[in-house]
Amino acid sequence: MAAAVAAVIVVLLSLLTASNSATVFTGSITPNFTTSHFLQIDNSGDFLRSINRTYTAAVLNLQPKPTSFSFYLIVYHTASRAVVWAANRNKPISISGQIRLSFTGITIHDDSGATIWSTPELNSTIASLQLHDSGNLILVDRFNKTLWQSFDFPMDTIVTGQKFPVNGTLTAVNSPSDFSDGDYSFTLTSGDGILRWNDVTYYNLLMDSKSVRNSNKLISYLMVNGSGFYLFGGSESDVAIKVLIPPAVTDSDYRILKMSNDGHLVVMRFTDNNWVTDFSTPGDSCRPPSRCGKLGLCSGDRCSCPPGFRTDPVTNSGCVLTDNSLSLPETCDASFRQSENYVYFQLGTGLEYFPVDFINPVVNGVVLSTCETICSASCSCLGFFYGNGSGSCYLIEHHFGSMVSSSNNKTDDKLGFIKTISSISSSGNEGDNSSSDFPVIGMILLPTSGILVIVAAAILMSRRYRNHKMRPRSKKLGGKSYSDDLDMFSIAGLPVRFDHEDLVEATMDFSTPIGSGGFGTVYKGVLRDKTVVAVKKITALGAQGKKEFGTEIAIIGNIHHVNLVKLKGFCAHGRERFLVYEYMSRGSLDRTLFCPGPPMEWQERFEIAVGTARGLAYLHSGCEHKIIHCDVKPENILLSDSMQVKISDFGLSKLLSPEQSGFFTTMRGTRGYLAPEWLTNAAISDKTDVYSYGMVLLELIQGRKNCAQAPSHDPGNPSTSTDGRSSNSSRSQNQNHHHPRARALYFPLKALEMHEEGRYLDLVEPRLAGRVTNDEAEKLVKVALCCLHEDPTLRPTMVNVVAMLEGTLSVSEPRLECLNFLRFYGRRFTEPSTVVTGAEIEVPSGFMVANVDSSCPSVSPNSFSYTSSQQVSGPR
Ligand SMILES: *[C@@H]1O[C@H](CO)[C@@H](O)[C@H](O)[C@H]1NC(C)=O
Ligand SMILES: *[C@@H]1O[C@H](CO)[C@@H](O)[C@H](O)[C@H]1NC(C)=O
Ligand SMILES: *[C@@H]1O[C@H](CO)[C@@H](O)[C@H](O)[C@H]1NC(C)=O
Ligand SMILES: *[C@@H]1O[C@H](CO)[C@@H](O)[C@H](O)[C@H]1NC(C)=O
Ligand SMILES: *[C@@H]1O[C@H](CO)[C@@H](O)[C@H](O)[C@H]1NC(C)=O
Ligand SMILES: *[C@@H]1O[C@H](CO)[C@@H](O)[C@H](O)[C@H]1NC(C)=O
Ligand SMILES: *[C@@H]1O[C@H](CO)[C@@H](O)[C@H](O)[C@H]1NC(C)=O
Ligand SMILES: *[C@@H]1O[C@H](CO)[C@@H](O)[C@H](O)[C@H]1NC(C)=O
Repeated sequence: MAAAVAAVIVVLLSLLTASNSATVFTGSITPNFTTSHFLQIDNSGDFLRSINRTYTAAVLNLQPKPTSFSFYLIVYHTASRAVVWAANRNKPISISGQIRLSFTGITIHDDSGATIWSTPELNSTIASLQLHDSGNLILVDRFNKTLWQSFDFPMDTIVTGQKFPVNGTLTAVNSPSDFSDGDYSFTLTSGDGILRWNDVTYYNLLMDSKSVRNSNKLISYLMVNGSGFYLFGGSESDVAIKVLIPPAVTDSDYRILKMSNDGHLVVMRFTDNNWVTDFSTPGDSCRPPSRCGKLGLCSGDRCSCPPGFRTDPVTNSGCVLTDNSLSLPETCDASFRQSENYVYFQLGTGLEYFPVDFINPVVNGVVLSTCETICSASCSCLGFFYGNGSGSCYLIEHHFGSMVSSSNNKTDDKLGFIKTISSISSSGNEGDNSSSDFPVIGMILLPTSGILVIVAAAILMSRRYRNHKMRPRSKKLGGKSYSDDLDMFSIAGLPVRFDHEDLVEATMDFSTPIGSGGFGTVYKGVLRDKTVVAVKKITALGAQGKKEFGTEIAIIGNIHHVNLVKLKGFCAHGRERFLVYEYMSRGSLDRTLFCPGPPMEWQERFEIAVGTARGLAYLHSGCEHKIIHCDVKPENILLSDSMQVKISDFGLSKLLSPEQSGFFTTMRGTRGYLAPEWLTNAAISDKTDVYSYGMVLLELIQGRKNCAQAPSHDPGNPSTSTDGRSSNSSRSQNQNHHHPRARALYFPLKALEMHEEGRYLDLVEPRLAGRVTNDEAEKLVKVALCCLHEDPTLRPTMVNVVAMLEGTLSVSEPRLECLNFLRFYGRRFTEPSTVVTGAEIEVPSGFMVANVDSSCPSVSPNSFSYTSSQQVSGPR
């Protein structure tokens, strides 16, 4: 204390004697230079201004009430006083703590003189410290070469014109007056921008409806400017993702991008002396995981506590257990020993926890008590969510955030459990009356038998195994390893495994086929518990073995979305493979849409369009692995009696991790829905699915196949060859189109023509006449045409398609110049003399091509097209 007083006196004296040190420099400062807030007190701590004074460097206290230890070296925007950078954000200094600029770097010292922050070791001697008008604080050598710059070490903010590089992180502050690292951060990856809370992902930029993927380039940096912010590939002309933020602002408006301490990534604008938030993501205010504090319940932006909890009286945020005899476990330390007294407190139903959307379950297909055992064996586990349908177990580790009430009817209800320690046994009955309002619901005492602990340990180890890139003991893999089922179990996260006998019994020895597709035949079955299922017997399994099969189904099995068909389990029997899916009572969309019977109502078509788009959007950007469906068509869109729409067969195409953008080694898809890039050497991307989706949308509008002949099609026309291996068959088939020549119709071309004339109702199925407005039809037709743009980068993302259909994003105008290829396709279709031979089409080498031409196959209106005849399949 005395030393501090002495220091203040010394500083005070030096201030009095050397008052000339208290000037504010402009542009640059040369070493040796020393300052502190105290020395600059006449200038409120400012010591360096940029040349045109846009930015100021200062030693400032940001606490509302000055305390002696909260001064930071900062750069702030002069007009708005927004702090854009702080050096010692985690170690504030006192009013007399010093900032020193020497020939070797900048150092910050506390009252005792100890260095608490410094620039890294530099290559050469510093000539000056400069503050540029861009907001960048730079150390340069005598050749004016940059040795160090603050832009390389952003805090929570980037300013207009600042390049924020891939792998860079913006870490939010704890509070506006405490700059130390908060729980929220934003990281730029090569594929997206990720929002995290305590290292757990809770949102990504592509999920926001305003973000538009422009190209598949790997992202190298992000920049903010007057029209929004941009994630660039290699150069400024190479926009990978853009987020357009109206209004476009001029130079006089000042814009920043910031990770806020409430969990939102925001773009703010300083205009007319006020801050305006132009953009904030996530839009859902309950998404940020600590919105309602620890164990709080967020619902419609209001906070409450789940049953059995009350507001924490100490912090007044977050919730504590009502029952005083239970306590939450202490923080983890080295002396962790599994307690025998754990009591798992069951949260009410209908609650969800944020990471469940983003993390993989540690294990699937287990009973509840296994999940408890795993949690008890882990010190960092604070509780878990259990998927009642799938038997999946999601651990809540290290930190407990808020919960949200699950508003939608999720297919897999999650049951939440909080780990608590019971003090009843040790402290006796403390509350006499409290036993009456004791929450009876869901007190589950943990069965701690030794065997379960061993199982848990094994599962934890296998989980670690998976984290190590899922490398099973593969020595035994090979031709004869099919009988060695143990390989399968080294892959964690597998869905339920069925016995072959059970499937034989369920399907009555595979007696009721309900369809067949590219991968095999689908049978209806009824499990012992009366659940109706669809069993897919995979026949098209390539040379790949169990490991690949297991890896793929582990991923598919972990995808849960209301618009995606759920994989209930699998079976591997000898060389045979089966996938067991939930059963969809109305079968596939093509049956309802293209078959005789009453027409499907417009509203239902619209809901199918939205549901399908949501499912695809989830595959493209909602789950851990980016999944491109590659075979979007009505046959793969299933319906249930309760008007649910679910996409099937996803994940059977290969996975594309966000880092990969180039070639797709497996080529699948169905002619008529195939994007042009399949036929050229261009890369296959999520936009390939967008194209197919656009085709499906057009079929929904007109209620017929896009490539259908006019109603009186030629009955003698042979169907396409079943294996389609020769291009001869496609040639002869084309020639068969002679008869209906005048009536042949390529609907996408008609859609383009009617769009140009604004006659949208002419495209709608005639039987719906009078029940659809021109506006409703216009919306779907325009979205469909945008999806068909020839250049994949100009097609909207599925996320944006959803937003356009739902009306949260205005519908884009289709670009006519990107749709001219339809005229070409259409002409080929209507003029059968234009025979397309295989030679005209470039196909990546190594692919087997079946029936590839640019027109469509003839389709009989009552065929369900379950054949694989129209498929282009590559080796698997
Ligand atoms: C700058 O300071 C260093 C050590 O603090 C000292 O060795 C050096 O002589 C000083 N240089 C000048 C030009 O004052
Ligand atoms: C220092 O110089 C070396 C070689 O000139 C260079 O490779 C290195 O990146 C430099 N380091 C810094 C921090 O500039
Ligand atoms: C200061 O300079 C920056 C960068 O050159 C420029 O963008 C800004 O408009 C200037 N501000 C003023 C007030 O002149
Ligand atoms: C140093 O470089 C900056 C830009 O990098 C430039 O604006 C400035 O004029 C240069 N200063 C000198 C003295 O060359
Ligand atoms: C970013 O991080 C990833 C993974 O840690 C790494 O592979 C990649 O090389 C990094 N990129 C850059 C530009 O540092
Ligand atoms: C912002 O950057 C993008 C991409 O480089 C560019 O297209 C746009 O015109 C810029 N906007 C402004 C207002 O400078
Ligand atoms: C869990 O699932 C079982 C069977 O599927 C069902 O009987 C039970 O009610 C479910 N429990 C909850 C809490 O939803
Ligand atoms: C959820 O399902 C119940 C009954 O199955 C139904 O009454 C309710 O409207 C559904 N809620 C939503 C949001 O779909």
